Amino acid sequence: MRRILLLLLAAAIAAFAAQPVRARHGMVVTRERHATAIGLAVLQSGGNAVDAAVAVGFALAVTHPTAGNIGGGGFMLVRMADGRTTFLDFRERAPGAASRNMYLDAAGKATEDSTIGYRAAGVPGTVRGFEYAAKKYGSKPWAELVRPAVELAAKGFPLSYGTAGSLRGSARGLSRFPESNRIFLRDGKYYEPGETFAQPDLARTLERIARLGAKDFYEGETARLLAQDMKEHGGLITLADLRNYAVVERQPLTGAYRGYTIVTAPPPSSGGVGILQMLGVLEGTGFEKAGAGSATAVHYMAEAMRRYFADRAEHLGDADFVKVPLPSLLDPAYILRLRGSIDPERATASSQVHAGVFAAHESAETTHYTIADGQGNIAAVTYTLNGGYGSRATAAGLGFLLNNEMDDFAPKPGEANMYGLIQGEFNAIQPNKRPLSSMTPTIVLREGKPWLVLGSPGGPTIINSVLEVMVNAIDFGMNVQDAVNWPRFHHQWLPDVLNMEAGYSPDTVALLEKRGYTVKRVGAQGEVAAIRFHDGWLEGAPDPRTEGTAEGH
Ligand code: DON
Repeated sequence: MRRILLLLLAAAIAAFAAQPVRARHGMVVTRERHATAIGLAVLQSGGNAVDAAVAVGFALAVTHPTAGNIGGGGFMLVRMADGRTTFLDFRERAPGAASRNMYLDAAGKATEDSTIGYRAAGVPGTVRGFEYAAKKYGSKPWAELVRPAVELAAKGFPLSYGTAGSLRGSARGLSRFPESNRIFLRDGKYYEPGETFAQPDLARTLERIARLGAKDFYEGETARLLAQDMKEHGGLITLADLRNYAVVERQPLTGAYRGYTIVTAPPPSSGGVGILQMLGVLEGTGFEKAGAGSATAVHYMAEAMRRYFADRAEHLGDADFVKVPLPSLLDPAYILRLRGSIDPERATASSQVHAGVFAAHESAETTHYTIADGQGNIAAVTYTLNGGYGSRATAAGLGFLLNNEMDDFAPKPGEANMYGLIQGEFNAIQPNKRPLSSMTPTIVLREGKPWLVLGSPGGPTIINSVLEVMVNAIDFGMNVQDAVNWPRFHHQWLPDVLNMEAGYSPDTVALLEKRGYTVKRVGAQGEVAAIRFHDGWLEGAPDPRTEGTAEGH
């Protein structure tokens, strides 16, 4: 009888479960509906997932200007139908003239220059990254992938409620730069939702890129204009920096969790190693038996997070410049020790976990999209300008915003950056080095076949959002949309605070406080875009915290 009741209850829960978008032959999940539609059109016309990822990336540079970009950088995790996996690193690099103390004033104090204005920008990688991806893993002619974005920029598109609000909300920073003020704020006559937003300067730049390829951006007219604008405004990026920018193709990190294979982001992302270490710590604790959202499950996960973020502060940086001790961080004996240090009943004070200091900061100004085609190819892309609208400076005559990725370095090792992150020597500024990232595009395989693909923006919260959605799907058996929707939380060691979304009940919070946590209520954490492969279906799950959409065919 009890069993029947339980089954009935399970059926009722399933009936109320949030439904993903289902399709058989291709799925695109992005943060913005025009970009989603463009990705789907590429798949429908025979393009593969990488083709669609490139077209979506250019489209978001037009329709999601806070994070979509050609003036920034990011990562693309790819798995081809034949099983090859690769990680395309088109992260920005420090300009050649960058130096360790470039953001300190005469008194040795960190200035705002790493976050706003021309000096905050690293050498953009997006355009060369997309060209590399399209040439090596795509199947369609380049121009065909860029043209939809050219058209969107030239003709304009109706601004959503969210984007219009975001532009207006960013007026303080954007209005400091005349080009940004003119293009994004219409010189103070703010755009309203529903109004058409056209970007003719950007359309011309994209049109040149469509015709001439990445060469235009790095060596041609665009490069020339960008370098000139930099020079006029005290920026560091030169023609030589642009010419020399190189995409790096890396081996993804892989690991195992409960029989699933995890394929994820290597350095200069700090995300993949975090996911693998935290899953390792969790496996074997039995945390899942307490159930999703229970104080006990949150406790074990938060303790794993706290321990990883202590390591992150100390040991992570661009592995091309510093020796990241990956084997030690993922050593089973070390993981066992970490697990053993968790008190099942009580929060461990962060002061007892490690040295170094982080401070919390939420924002959602990066973007992630996930694409799967009918042949079995997958592309998961997280790319960014770093902060919302990046440096807020728009390259004169070119119509695109410049990143402020230099702030992901430790502008002053030992002192907080924009996210309040206090980071160490491994992430100090050096010419041509890539700043440490938290971006974590990830693929989960079951029996060697794709099962779940996901990623998120959110600075340091990215790593934990990705972890939580994976655990929701793997350990708590949620369908992909529920796994994405489920309330999130975040612990990053220091400050010693557990951030929790509103979805957690006051009783759960009280139980955690009793265990010794300081809980802080936060707004939305992360913007996950996920696809699950289930029974021959592709299930697309956009994040209801956003205006994101999923479309399939
Ligand atoms: O690479 C990183 O970790 C950051 N630049 C990501 C920034 C981000 O996610 C901002 N949005 N929340």
